Amino acid sequence: MTSKIVDTWLTNSQEENAMFDDHYPLWKVMIERMSEKSLKGKTVLDFGCNQGGFLRVLYQQKPFQKGIGIDVARQAIQIANENKGSLPLTYEARDNLESFQSEIDVAFSHEVLYLIQDLKQHAQKIFDCLKAEGVYYAALGCHSDNPLWANWQKMIEAESNIEVQNYSLNFIADTFRNAGFAVFAQKFMLNDFMLMKESNSYFPSVVDSLNYYWDYKILWKFVKQ
Ligand SMILES: C[S@@+](CC[C@H](N)C(=O)[O-])C[C@H]1O[C@@H](n2cnc3c(N)ncnc32)[C@H](O)[C@@H]1O
Repeated sequence: MTSKIVDTWLTNSQEENAMFDDHYPLWKVMIERMSEKSLKGKTVLDFGCNQGGFLRVLYQQKPFQKGIGIDVARQAIQIANENKGSLPLTYEARDNLESFQSEIDVAFSHEVLYLIQDLKQHAQKIFDCLKAEGVYYAALGCHSDNPLWANWQKMIEAESNIEVQNYSLNFIADTFRNAGFAVFAQKFMLNDFMLMKESNSYFPSVVDSLNYYWDYKILWKFVKQ
């Protein structure tokens, strides 16, 4: 994989500190929608875990045996380790999965695929680190089939320390299918009240927010065959 370790993903690290509140309701959707009703005895992976919030929330809702979070952002991993308390979590600053051969039952990523330069290699590495019939859930709204993306891409590029990619949903589906996964997808359909912030460059109108979280943000399920 071509990414390298960075201090922070965003040039303004305060924005990374604020991500928990924004992403918490989205992580809850991922956790509710996953097919596994229990993760008892399972090993789970959060790829691109940033400050580690997803695995802490997942453990509250569906306790697991062991959770591994990896991210290329060194400072975020430090915060993840400071906040993990006594939970069975390991967070590491790295961008590779070499040491996890056939170890993971369920892997997750939330809004990470668009930052991965070599998606083919990522799909293969995730395949290798999953056990037989293991599953990878990946949530993604930052893709070229999202009508807001052309603007977002420029804005994210201006504040990201990692190169931003421009993948279509078809390209992502083909890439994971070619790596040996059965590829499933559903619209995110965030079915709850959403805080409507003032008009901003990401969401110029209320209907942009509603359409994005219902229609354009996608939850992928890649099943190792
Ligand atoms: C948009 S943030 C999402 C963070 C987290 N998943 C969440 O839901 O809040 C993307 C994260 O992916 C990480 N990332 C990007 N490319 C990566 C790679 N190749 N390997 C590991 N982490 C990566 C970034 O450092 C950043 O923390």
